[in-house]
Order: sequence, then structure tokens, then C-alpha cells
Amino acid sequence: MSGYGRSHGAHLHTGNRKKTISFNVNFKYSTNMTEINQTTEWAALQSHWTEMEPLQMRDLFTENPERSEQMSIRQCGILLDYSKNRVTQKTLNLLLGLANAADVDGWRRRMFSGERLNNTENRAVLHVALRNRSNRPIWFDGEDIMPGVNAVLEKMASFSDSVRLGEWQGHTGKRITDVVNIGIGGSNLGPLMACEALKHYQDPALRLHFVSNVDASHLVETVKPLNPETTLFIVASKTFTTQETLTNAITARNWLLETLSDEAAVAKHFVAVSTNSEKVAEFGIDTDNMFEFWDWVGGRYSLWSAIGLPITIAIGMPAFYEMLQGAHEMDEHFLHADLSENMPVIMALLGIWYVDFAQAKTHAVLPYDQYLRFLPDYLQQADMESNGKRVTRFGRPVEYATGPVVWGTAGTDGQHAYYQLIHQGTQMIPCDFLIPVNSHNETDDHHKKLFANCLAQTEALMKGKTRKEARQEMEAAGLEADKIVDLLPHKIFPGNRPSNTLLIDQITPSRLGSLIALYEHKIFVQGVIWRVNSFDQWGVELGKQLAGVILEELMDKGKSNPHDASTKGLINYFHRHRKR
Ligand code: F6P
Repeated sequence: MSGYGRSHGAHLHTGNRKKTISFNVNFKYSTNMTEINQTTEWAALQSHWTEMEPLQMRDLFTENPERSEQMSIRQCGILLDYSKNRVTQKTLNLLLGLANAADVDGWRRRMFSGERLNNTENRAVLHVALRNRSNRPIWFDGEDIMPGVNAVLEKMASFSDSVRLGEWQGHTGKRITDVVNIGIGGSNLGPLMACEALKHYQDPALRLHFVSNVDASHLVETVKPLNPETTLFIVASKTFTTQETLTNAITARNWLLETLSDEAAVAKHFVAVSTNSEKVAEFGIDTDNMFEFWDWVGGRYSLWSAIGLPITIAIGMPAFYEMLQGAHEMDEHFLHADLSENMPVIMALLGIWYVDFAQAKTHAVLPYDQYLRFLPDYLQQADMESNGKRVTRFGRPVEYATGPVVWGTAGTDGQHAYYQLIHQGTQMIPCDFLIPVNSHNETDDHHKKLFANCLAQTEALMKGKTRKEARQEMEAAGLEADKIVDLLPHKIFPGNRPSNTLLIDQITPSRLGSLIALYEHKIFVQGVIWRVNSFDQWGVELGKQLAGVILEELMDKGKSNPHDASTKGLINYFHRHRKR
């Protein structure tokens, strides 16, 4: 068995059915385990960086004409060219040694076989089951979870078809024209990003909107142009306890009832996506109109589940299935390909190389595609909530850097904003440049210009401009000698700035699925090597708790909870300056 199918580690056969043994696989591996930064593989990489630091990539290209070919992987309609990185074959071998020392191979199989990798919440991590288009059984807690997954997909298909065909009607018998997803974090960013990415496939007569922020302006401005009679709300929350989402959902319900004045209208205008049917019912949404998912789906890995309902309404179920298929193909590649030819593994290792050995602090994601404009926001949560950790899965403080700050925007806007710092600033910022080979809008020469800009940036970052080149350029432009001397330091580009280039055949549902799965697995591999739990997010809790405490004081002026002087002063200022 490799991957899918019956897990040997965590299950026992008892008669016809299997039973889960409740040992915690993650803690089991903790005893006597050498910290990753104490391994010989780590030490070798540290000393290798000192060899690599002075090398110029432009020289590596000159020395090896095959470099780009050797350092490229094509998979699922995506070409990854990673030759513009500060690596040699030796670097890659050492990084692969580190991956072996961290048992990446074992961990990828553990994930696919349903082990409880999320040890602090005692949960499995099975988003791959949601797109298991092979339909091979995936066992969890003694049951094949695929029939449940398929049943929800069928329910999503029938619901999204009925909305798209106008069969699902509002309370007054009108067809739905606007769908508003109310959710936050993983219950917002995935569907928002995917709906935008696949806008080309949408029927403009059915519009999708996303409300996440508890700032009322988000909801108010979104519903302002909408007609309650033709608006459908999807309340998406894994826990159905998230303050922002419930506050927005209540306000949305009030907005609806202001016009429709009949509680019965809620059933026709509100559906829910959640793991918590009790809370959904408590809110007043008929649980027949609830789409379930499971606690083995992490919030930031949930767009493949019923959280993807807005995507199915936007592009139709067949296209959503294509997206799942694309992700499944990337899963198969990740699970089976040798680590040295494995796209997510290579991207993960390059990231680790820069963060832990070259001290890079951030990582830029730069999609040269307007449709992918929300990809950086989506990846911020996927990456930073997963690997923004300061202790290992065993609870020991890490003694090395983990997740970088992930950021970026769609090209070419960034070129006219922050690229200056990437080219000539004092920090090294590894970048991912992403661009489709074929645009959905081949209007005039736009796409060739976009493509030229994208490649030009990768080339400029890698090559830079030497003193000699800068001087020659100014001489050719006829500048006076003293002017050249003054300008020279400013015109030199150090170059040697690393980037990956990802060329995607076209942004189709299937290729988008592959692309997202690629990043998910990259993040997973990094988490495995850093030995953190990439599937919990305790760090977001403290702020939530304190917001509750402060809210009490904002609601009731007489209430006073203990705070530091700054927080206290700011609360008082708020009360003094409120207009009402
Ligand atoms: O911000 C923390 C978090 O728990 C995310 O992980 C999650 O995606 C988001 O809140 C929303 O949670 P829910 O879907 O339960 O409303």
C-alpha cells in the first residue's frame, strides 16, 4: 500500500471492522528524536551556504547550459523552472538529505492514510479525501469516508444546479441573482480566490459576493445594490461560533426580513456550511439546507469541501469536479514521485534553504494574472497559519526559523510599487512568479506584454547589472563622466536574487486545482521538516479571548476589566469620543 487505502499504523482489524487504536502517532515519534537542526544534514547545509553565498547565478548559467532543463519539473500542466535559485546539484542533494532525515516520505504516506497528524487537536488531516477522484476507499476511524464525501458532493451538485437553473427560488418566487458568502479565514479566502480565478467560467447573470470582515461597512456596502427577494446567503463556518460570521449573518437576516417581513423567508434565502448542525439549527437555518463537512478538514484546507459551495454555484458542478480532479492529480504526483522530482517537495526545500540557511524573512507570491489576484491572500492563511509556529509538534521551542511572511499582489502593479526593494533593497526576498501561457483574454498584445514583464523581472533579479554594464550603458547614453561617477552606485543591481517561475498552461478549473494542491503540499513538507504541527492555529485564540473581554467594556461603560495602561487609555478615549 502506498498512501490511500488501509492505514497500518493507526488501525487494528476487529472482526469485519477496524478499530482505531488511540495512540497518538505524533507523540510516539517524539522520544529520543534528534532536533532537525542538530542533524548532520542540517550542519552540512549550514556550511554549504557559506560556499554558495559568493557564487553568482549568472555564472552558474554560463557554466552549465543545461541548468534550466535540469532544474525544471513539468506536472499537471504546470512547468516549474527553479533554475534561478542560488543552488547547485550539491545543494539539492543536501536538501534532499534533509528531507530524508525528516522522513518526508513517511509523513506524506501518513497523511494520505488518515493518521491523526494534527496532534494538538487529535485530528486527521484528510483534505486529500475530498478530491480523491479515484474514489479508492480512504479509511478513518474504521470507516471508508468516501461515501460521505460523495454524498455531500451530490447534495452540492443538486443545490448549485437548482440555483443556476433558477429552480431554487426566493420567498416571493423570484430566481436568485446574487449569492453572498458570509464566512472568514478558510471559510472565505478559498472560495473568494477560486471564484475570482475562475471568473471566466461564470455566468455574469449570477453574481457572487463575499463578506468576511465584522466591520459593518463590508456587509452594508455589499448588500446595498442587492434585492433581498433575489439574494441567497451562504453562512459558511466550520465551527459556527465565529464572531465575525455570526454577527454578519444576523445582520444579513435582519436586512432580509426588513423587506420580506416573514420569518419563513429565511429558509429560502439562507443555507449553511458547517460541521456543527446544532449551532446551525440554533441560528434558525433549516438543517436540510446545511451542507456538512468534517473535523478532519482544516479550515484553510476546506475549499474542496462544502465550503466550496459558492464555487459550484459560480462555475457549475462539472467544472468544480474538474478542479477536484486537478488537485487529485497533484496529490498523486506528490504521493508517488521521487522526492528529487517532486514539485511540492522541491519548492518546500528551496523555501527552507532560504529561510533557515540564507536568513530570508519573507516570500513573495507574484501572480501575473489578474484572475489570480487573491492567490497571495489565500496563501497567506494557508502558509502563515500553518507554519507560523514557535514550538515543535512535541512542544519544544524551535531553535530555527519556521514560516516566512508570505505576501504579494498581481503583476504588473507590484512592479510600480515594491519591486524596487526586491531588486535593490538590503533583504533577499525569494519570489514565486506565476503566469499562464495562454490568457482567457488574448486581446491585442496584452498577454505578450504581460509575459515579457514577468520574465524580465525574473531575469533582472537573477542577473542584476554589474558596475561595468551600468557604466557602459550611461556612456552609450552620452552622460558626462562626473555624472556617471555620481550615478554609478545607484545604477548597479546586485542580482543573484532568487525566484521560481511557474508557467501554467491556462487558468482552468483543473489547473487551478493542481496549483492550490501544489502549495498545500509544499506547506506540508516544510511543516514536516520544521517538525511543527501545520494543522492547528492556537495563536489566533488569545486575540479572540481579549476581544471578548474588551467588548464587554465597550458595550457597558461602567464595566472595567484589568488591562495595561495603553489598552485602558484607548478604551476610555473610545468612550469619550463616541458620537453616540
Ligand atoms: O482564524 C482562525 C480560524 O479558526 C481559521 O483557521 C478559520 O479558517 C477561521 O477562523 C474561520 O473559522 P470558522 O470556519 O469556524 O468560522
